[in-house]
Amino acid sequence: MSDRLKNKVAIVTGAGSRGPGLGNGKATAILFARAGARVLCVDQVLERAEETVELIRGEGGEAAAFAADVTHAVACDAMVQAAVARWGGLDVLHNNVGIESRKDLLDTPEDEWDRVLAVDLKSMFLATRAAVPAMVARGGGSVVCVSSVAALRGHGRTAYAAAKAGVIGFVRSVAVQLGARGVRVNAIAPGAVWTPMVESLGPEARERRRRATVLGTEGSGWDVAWGAVYLASDEARWVTGQTLVIDGGVTLTTRGGTQGATR
Ligand SMILES: NC(=O)c1ccc[n+]([C@@H]2O[C@H](COP(=O)([O-])OP(=O)(O)OC[C@H]3O[C@@H](n4cnc5c(N)ncnc54)[C@H](O)[C@@H]3O)[C@@H](O)[C@H]2O)c1
Repeated sequence: MSDRLKNKVAIVTGAGSRGPGLGNGKATAILFARAGARVLCVDQVLERAEETVELIRGEGGEAAAFAADVTHAVACDAMVQAAVARWGGLDVLHNNVGIESRKDLLDTPEDEWDRVLAVDLKSMFLATRAAVPAMVARGGGSVVCVSSVAALRGHGRTAYAAAKAGVIGFVRSVAVQLGARGVRVNAIAPGAVWTPMVESLGPEARERRRRATVLGTEGSGWDVAWGAVYLASDEARWVTGQTLVIDGGVTLTTRGGTQGATR
């Protein structure tokens, strides 16, 4: 346990994991609690959020589960109200929810484009819009949005890359709007971390993703979560509108540009 987020109230969206193992959202909720935050673990599947809450409580941390589909404004408002009602305010919003799409332009159906843009980008707009008034009422806060290196490199994943690049544009725009009100807004762009989200790529892709990094090692949800702790904390009090790339160095190289190599 540490004091880096002591007395802070945080929401983590997508705080469960879609399968066994550790997703970025789950790892972030756990590290937030270890840093002293009270964490509302939000997931559209309540049992997944409850699993994370159990892990946190098992370590002596404070957390509660909340079921919400963050592609809906009403659900985002309810999620913020739940945190405020339970703990008296809100300091941190970690927008982690995201789904992948691995299709090229000509193969992407319109409904898949719409779904990916709704889950990966619109959810961040709705959740942030719901959270900001509560943060301003406290004198400020921190919003962290999970993008991807797919936003920064040429990739075959059309809808995913577009949505994740949109997240970076959203963060820069909103950071300028909210700075004077004490709300910082930043993005994290993870590289090819191994989480349940990419489990279906299989062992060969896993090895290719590891080799594509400059460091030659595999990243995990913990690597992303440590970046989130920093951005959420007062240590980052002078940091806003930025994109923190956590990728083992893959964006420094021309490696890993093929399908399935990076996310
Ligand atoms: N794994 C990687 O290599 C990688 C790389 C870059 C970025 N990312 C990003 O990391 C984030 C995902 O992280 P994760 O590992 O926690 O993923 P995950 O797939 O384990 O998802 C976490 C949870 O999000 C929930 N969820 C999905 N849609 C939701 C919605 N509309 N409302 C509420 N909950 C919803 C799921 O039920 C799941 O439990 C995404 O934004 C993803 O794009 C991952």
